[in-house]
Amino acid sequence: MNWFARTFNYSIGRKIIMALTGLFLVFFLIEHVFGNLLLFANDGGAAFNEYSHDMSHNTIIRIVEYLLFAGIIFHFVDGFILWSKNRSARPIRYQMSKPHEKTKWTSRNMIWSGSVILIFLVIHLKSFFVPYRITDGMDGKTLFEITRDAFANPYYSAFYVFAMILLGLHLNHGFSSAFQTLGLRHPNFYSGIKILGVILSLVISLGFASMPIYFYLQTIMN
Ligand code: HEM
Repeated sequence: MNWFARTFNYSIGRKIIMALTGLFLVFFLIEHVFGNLLLFANDGGAAFNEYSHDMSHNTIIRIVEYLLFAGIIFHFVDGFILWSKNRSARPIRYQMSKPHEKTKWTSRNMIWSGSVILIFLVIHLKSFFVPYRITDGMDGKTLFEITRDAFANPYYSAFYVFAMILLGLHLNHGFSSAFQTLGLRHPNFYSGIKILGVILSLVISLGFASMPIYFYLQTIMN
């Protein structure tokens, strides 16, 4: 077995891969949420469309995108394998005791918040990335118009907001947990990392959730 297969095979190797891919995905989300704020520019989508066009025609961004999709796949596959290994290592589940009181709900339910985010991602890519970048299925609309029209649907928008609440909880636990896995739990920095995790998860989840809310309110007020 080569080093990569060995690393991937051990639980600690899997956790390290999850931590690294998770932090990489956080960087992507920061870029994505700030780029998408152009949706609020009140210019009929001109700045947002131009930004999306530039991003999708930039060679470096295209290469990073391959890494992004590989990161997403590794993160989810590893998460499921670790979760199922932990479950089978403890066949009699909490027969005698409840889960440790101090273990927060979020940390015990990372698998479920992660699963909803995965479902969200499939729906999200199908709505935007696939028609814009793969099938050329825009029906003559711009990316801004596709986004605005998608969020006119209350069910679609509500699902986005729900998924963003879970994304915020997932990131809040995942961010500090990743530093812990990487052995960067120095007492001097750890509370700073926790605070940074809270700030990032709030900025990312509230930033994204504000977009469907904004467009849906525009729809009902017009
Ligand atoms: C209201 C929130 C969001 C809006 C309006 C939005 C909008 C978009 C749009 C228009 C695209 C296509 C752009 C292109 O291909 O150049 C896109 C791509 C993408 N989005 Fe989102 N997004 C949102 C939230 C999210 C979240 C929360 C995630 C991850 C959990 C995410 C992950 C992705 C990925 C992986 C791609 C494909 C990669 C890329 O195009 O760079 N998005 N998004």
